[in-house]
Amino acid sequence: MPTRYTDAQLQALMEALYQRYSYDFRDYTLPSQRRRLNHAIERFRCAHLDALQELVLGDPAAFGELLQILTVPVTQMFRDPAFFRALREQVVPVLKTYPSPTIWVAGCCTGEEALSLAIVLHEEGLLERSRIYATDINPQALATAASGVYPLHRLAEYGDNYVAAGGMGQLSEYYTVEHATVRFQQRLLDKINFSDHSLATDSVFVETQLICCRNVLIYFNKTLQERALGLFHESLCHRGFLGLGSKESVQFTRFASDFEPLPGPEKLYRKRAPSRAASYYAGRQGFARNET
Ligand SMILES: C[S@@+](CC[C@H](N)C(=O)[O-])C[C@H]1O[C@@H](n2cnc3c(N)ncnc32)[C@H](O)[C@@H]1O
Repeated sequence: MPTRYTDAQLQALMEALYQRYSYDFRDYTLPSQRRRLNHAIERFRCAHLDALQELVLGDPAAFGELLQILTVPVTQMFRDPAFFRALREQVVPVLKTYPSPTIWVAGCCTGEEALSLAIVLHEEGLLERSRIYATDINPQALATAASGVYPLHRLAEYGDNYVAAGGMGQLSEYYTVEHATVRFQQRLLDKINFSDHSLATDSVFVETQLICCRNVLIYFNKTLQERALGLFHESLCHRGFLGLGSKESVQFTRFASDFEPLPGPEKLYRKRAPSRAASYYAGRQGFARNET
């Protein structure tokens, strides 16, 4: 039976976590946070939200566990296979025109999405000259991602997804089985930089041709969604691509007119070229700055 607490109490906890640990969950959607916190209250056997707050503020290890609940570290290889098929068909041909494409996977969780992209790029003859930056705020997930080691029992699902995503060979070409785990090849991992980066507090760090940020914005309120989309818009090169999760969209945000949807049902967008008027004024501002 979930305990009762107000939105203000929930927000006070998020503010306290930010002040204590610099993890910023203040602009995540309230219903999703409420579900996570109810789960945490049960898991830590707390009588109410205040008790949970006291526990996690006083005990960094307990906060580490709460972080696993708040960040929803759930993912798959080739999650939503049709997305990867569309990416292969509509985006990869353009990526091939760049000498060294850079890809940012924001909210990469335990790394399966970045590995899936690395496999697509490898099969398209593009991996050698590409670089993938994969970022997240969950240190435990990032450690798993960097290891490239996953439980064996996930393999059947990963193999099915790979085939449905248009895989050109066998998924087994990319891993070795070690007891109850699978280890993905180092040559794939070598092309991926896994690092800590928060869409809530950090800024742009690289220019990219493609950004995949899937099943992350769904947990953000509109303010934070727009902050993240602003980072993506700034990071993407002229006419770069953005991939979102199936329940996410740029629609109804202030970036709606900055991205054009690619044909088809997948949430794939291409950054629009700035209008001539916008380019003119951006140029004037740059000119004015140079004058001072
Ligand atoms: C549901 S998982 C999605 C993983 C993967 N993108 C996918 O589609 O399978 C959400 C991920 O977003 C990460 N995340 C949550 N808030 C974030 C933030 N502010 N900045 C970066 N990553 C964040 C979580 O740690 C988690 O790994």
